[in-house]
Amino acid sequence: MKAVGLYRYLPVDHPESLLDLEFAAPVATGRDLLVEVKAVSVNPVDCKRRAPKDAVETAPKVLGWDAAGVVHAVGPEVTLFSPGDSVYYAGSILRPGSNGEFQLVDERVVGHKPANLSFAEAAAMPLTTLTAWELMFERMGVERSGAHAGRSILILGGAGGVGSIAIQLAAKLARLKVIASASRPESVEWVTELGAQATVDHTKPLAAQLAALGEPEVDYLLCLTSPDPLFESFAQIVKPQGKIGLIVRATRPYDLSILHDKGLAVCLESMFTRSSYQTPDMIAQHKLLEEAAGLFEAGILQGTMKQNLGAICAANLKRAHRMLEGGHVVGKLVLEGFGA
Ligand SMILES: NC(=O)c1ccc[n+]([C@@H]2O[C@H](COP(=O)([O-])OP(=O)(O)OC[C@H]3O[C@@H](n4cnc5c(N)ncnc54)[C@H](OP(=O)(O)O)[C@@H]3O)[C@@H](O)[C@H]2O)c1
Repeated sequence: MKAVGLYRYLPVDHPESLLDLEFAAPVATGRDLLVEVKAVSVNPVDCKRRAPKDAVETAPKVLGWDAAGVVHAVGPEVTLFSPGDSVYYAGSILRPGSNGEFQLVDERVVGHKPANLSFAEAAAMPLTTLTAWELMFERMGVERSGAHAGRSILILGGAGGVGSIAIQLAAKLARLKVIASASRPESVEWVTELGAQATVDHTKPLAAQLAALGEPEVDYLLCLTSPDPLFESFAQIVKPQGKIGLIVRATRPYDLSILHDKGLAVCLESMFTRSSYQTPDMIAQHKLLEEAAGLFEAGILQGTMKQNLGAICAANLKRAHRMLEGGHVVGKLVLEGFGA
């Protein structure tokens, strides 16, 4: 099978940062599906996993944790899927990724592809949908039925991959009042199209902008960017008993005592927790992706693919990594097919 992988961890412009490779396809056992990958999307986690360090791999490391494809074969314990099914998934960070023609993935973290989305459009959705959904509806306790309608949410990093689906989940399912951050005309336009009722610019102080909108404090705050430069400001702009959701790892200690008087909660999300720890509720990701597929098919959620960069090869993946490392991608980047 064709795949894109690495042996060494190098800056993206190094000729060996990502390599076009060929090796034997794996075999499905247990609850694994062997999926023929049709399209992938690229996430900041790919860049973080490729980032320069001294380690050298003896077997090629394949990145990519967002895919859509067709089930080619199933392990003997598989009950949820059959060969020929079209699927979408993020998979497990502990296993080889989706930048290869065939990939093994545990059926408990896979959903049937939304029928109205192409493979490329579907590949854009799993990782970010799992992240935003788990964070808001599971960790932060936002009611997706609309029982919290009218409460306010500030989404920092609204135009990125996670923000693009988080805005929709908050506005269209939970019916929250969404204030999204975006710093450029193109990203402001995109978050507004997705359902943000107001915008703030994350390059400027947030408190004054929220006050000018008549919302000096919000019920929920999703920080979809590094909280390091911002964390202390959250105590001021979140309402008493409000909730703060983080998805990017802190790289310095935070003083939680500043949140105490207001009774604020900090909720941490990693969408790989369930697969990494094989939690007893791991199948929740299958159910989540199935429910999300129904919402795409019903037209309640829209796909967030913005650019299809062409075939899944080292040159196109390097281009995607460069764009993501630039920090201003709007929506999702997708690659499709392995070429002739
Ligand atoms: N824990 C998890 O499970 C999990 C899952 C997914 C992602 N993540 C992490 O979450 C982060 C976001 O992921 P993503 O896929 O949404 O990234 P992304 O698509 O690369 O985000 C790009 C967006 O970030 C915005 N942005 C740039 N600088 C910003 C700043 N200082 N403050 C707020 N927004 C800023 C840009 O908006 P403008 O162009 O308007 O400036 C751009 O639209 C990454 O670090 C990723 O690794 C974690």
